[in-house]
Amino acid sequence: MENGTVHLSADEVLKQKIWDDIREYWKYYRDTKENFTEGRTKVQYAGAEYDEKEIIAMLNAILDGWFGVGKFCRRFENQFSRFLGAHESILVNSGSSANLIAVSALMSDQFQGQLSRGDEVISPAVTFPTTFNPLIQNGLTPVLLDVNAHTYNLNADDLEKAVSPRTRGIMIPHTLGNPNEMDAIMDFAEEHDLVVVEDSCDALGSKYQGKYLGTFGDVGTFSFYVAHQMTLGEGGAVVTGDPEIEPILRSIRDWGRACVCPVCKVSLNPDYQCPLRFQFETDTLPDDYDKRYVYLNVGYNLKPVEFQAAMGLEQLKKLPGFIAARKNNFAQLLDFFEGYSDYFMLPEALPGSDPAWFSFALTVKDNAPFTRKDIVMWLEQHNIETRLLFAGNIIRQPAYKHVHCRVVGELENSDRIMKNTFFIGVYPGLTEDHLTYIMDTVSAFMHKAT
Ligand SMILES: Cc1ncc(COP(=O)(O)O)c(C=O)c1O
Repeated sequence: MENGTVHLSADEVLKQKIWDDIREYWKYYRDTKENFTEGRTKVQYAGAEYDEKEIIAMLNAILDGWFGVGKFCRRFENQFSRFLGAHESILVNSGSSANLIAVSALMSDQFQGQLSRGDEVISPAVTFPTTFNPLIQNGLTPVLLDVNAHTYNLNADDLEKAVSPRTRGIMIPHTLGNPNEMDAIMDFAEEHDLVVVEDSCDALGSKYQGKYLGTFGDVGTFSFYVAHQMTLGEGGAVVTGDPEIEPILRSIRDWGRACVCPVCKVSLNPDYQCPLRFQFETDTLPDDYDKRYVYLNVGYNLKPVEFQAAMGLEQLKKLPGFIAARKNNFAQLLDFFEGYSDYFMLPEALPGSDPAWFSFALTVKDNAPFTRKDIVMWLEQHNIETRLLFAGNIIRQPAYKHVHCRVVGELENSDRIMKNTFFIGVYPGLTEDHLTYIMDTVSAFMHKAT
């Protein structure tokens, strides 16, 4: 800088021209976007909230010329850990991948508390398929508990009924962003020497007793699919406070290899000589075997790419605002639907919980003079998106007909949720106009149906 003037390199000058064009494009896009028209514009249940900053950040990463895991991914991992107060984060390509490497890492013989095939893991029957699948894919036996009809999570008091001498873990989704009773669950896990995986894919920003979800268990997982609290388009992360588990997670994400530096300096700089590359000793490989091709785990390739991380860095800056908007939208809908509590079972959070809600769920009561289908069809016909609570009672899904698991008690609430529950959105893209339209449309239905 000379006399207050910043001298940019030639490539920086060219980039600035591109960024200016993108800002102009974005302004045009925003100014010409159709206004919300009741009944004509779809009221989405979720959607990516981004602007020119994410686009510029992604293009900047692309122009860098290194597309695989590199400095943007590492920067994102550091900032994500800082946000949550977690020891370490590992970025992956989806929340499903996060769950898969979380469970697979606990099965690794590199992990001292290693789970074995046939061990039991307690989980709720109402779940997302790729919360449940890694248990089956790893040869574990899911032990399924019913859920609470208002929290959609398992009751911590029921854990005692589910435990057996083969039980080694608990895999819990914080359903729709609603915190599980983490103090009781962690006490139970400690007492019975169980590992805990918290699927926080719906729950980024939710807290229990002042602490972010995902940071209680041995491993916590997150999804950055567009429906969630922030997005990288697709993406996910695993967080852990256990320095033993972190390298195993990286290894399983990256083909199972022994090289687990968060950013490989050799990849970033071809002239860099890694001092450890040819010094890795095993009792089965030739002495000089390049560590880059030594495999300690049976892994996958579940890596993200740099421009996803670049988008994530911008989204993280907006995350507190996104969380506040979700809470506010949820509160408005709850206030409205409390007027119809004769007909709907409404969502409830446990004491000490501070949920950054994923959505607003409604369960049509058995004695209501209308069915879920009636109200869902009405909303959809009025261009208001609805969704079901994921898999419902997962063992009723066709894919799981022959899956081996142990069911504890009756899955009464899980079946009710499968039959009677649906949700609408609370995402930050909803304006006051959207919310008013949702409420007016529901009021018109209730007037007709009751
Ligand atoms: C509880 C839960 N776990 C896992 C996932 C999978 O995340 P992804 O879509 O990023 O694979 C989802 C997806 O919404 C989810 O709701």
